[in-house]
Amino acid sequence: MSSAELSVFIRAVGVRTPERKLTNAELSKMVDTSDEWIQTRSGIRERRIAGPGENPSDLGAHAAAQALERAGLTPADVDLLIVATMTPDVPFPSTACLLQAKLGLRRDIPCFDVSAACSGFVYALQVARDMMRSGAYRRALVVGAEKLSSVVDWSDRTTCVLFGDGAGAAVLETTAERGVGLLGNLLGADGNNAELLHCAAGGSAAPATADSLREGRHYLRMNGKEVFRHAVRVMAESCERVLAQCGVTSAEVAWFIPHQANIRILEAVASQLNVGMERFPSNLSRYGNTSAASIPLALEEAWKDGKIKHGDLILIVAFGAGLTWGATLLRWHEPSR
Ligand code: ACO
Repeated sequence: MSSAELSVFIRAVGVRTPERKLTNAELSKMVDTSDEWIQTRSGIRERRIAGPGENPSDLGAHAAAQALERAGLTPADVDLLIVATMTPDVPFPSTACLLQAKLGLRRDIPCFDVSAACSGFVYALQVARDMMRSGAYRRALVVGAEKLSSVVDWSDRTTCVLFGDGAGAAVLETTAERGVGLLGNLLGADGNNAELLHCAAGGSAAPATADSLREGRHYLRMNGKEVFRHAVRVMAESCERVLAQCGVTSAEVAWFIPHQANIRILEAVASQLNVGMERFPSNLSRYGNTSAASIPLALEEAWKDGKIKHGDLILIVAFGAGLTWGATLLRWHEPSR
């Protein structure tokens, strides 16, 4: 079998979210906001906050272990690990290497991070797929893991109400079966709009100093209105382009799994695609925006709820800081079926 004929499918998914819930009522005591404002503007009721020992590599390792167990596999079966995160445990080494050690993965495999903010999981899926189609890697772990609570300014009501922590993982596998798994994809970026959602200090261009800390320049800052505008346009366009690429109509798609940023963004994208919200599963109300973890969290929940069935077409779409975006159309495949 020539490697060009290989398909790559998601064999299992797993998740991990911190126990600690932070409700809108609690946030209302921290900043000048209200449950009503947050729910109306974003759809979020509560989010999870990681505690000590719950870094992205820890949350990611638990999510990956659950995905492997569900696949009936062990860490020794993994040939490739990619972690998508915008909140790595440390600047280096990669969160993937830390996760590799925690999970006990083999040492003869590539482990690396992908940095594409909220589009990270879609980017990582596509990188994994292309590496696997070469035939060099049979099984991969793709993990989205975030601790956004560590980069949020808890005195800034315009951002702190939106984000949360968590991790999700997918086990990818190659198969000779045609027309299953990851079918079509696109990725894009626009660095000219980097400042719409960014962290100004803490990297090599502006290392953390007493001044940068005092000025809060190591925190995430966002122009919410502009991000909203770009997100709706780019997510809807990305869906349409991937559907056209694959010769599929939106009516044939069973589930749209979008990055969970804001319920109003999801509603606007659904409306532009002329698709009912019942085909846009959302867990925003319980987790908020968990960046690279949000798509695997939503995918796992839809699968666990019994929504996703063998043969379903699923369209994953994301948008995030960078700016970055990506979409993947996949046919859900359960080899035993
Ligand atoms: N509580 C109460 N009032 C607030 C809050 C709050 N938490 N935050 C802002 N306000 C106020 C503002 O100060 C403003 O008051 P003013 O009119 O007196 O100036 C008013 O509410 C309206 O603010 P807007 O910014 O106009 O509110 P908007 O309707 O645009 O909603 C929001 C803000 C929710 C941030 C929205 O713009 C949004 O969701 N944007 C997209 C954000 C997003 O998805 N980011 C993630 C992208 S993915 C990634 O890579 C991480």
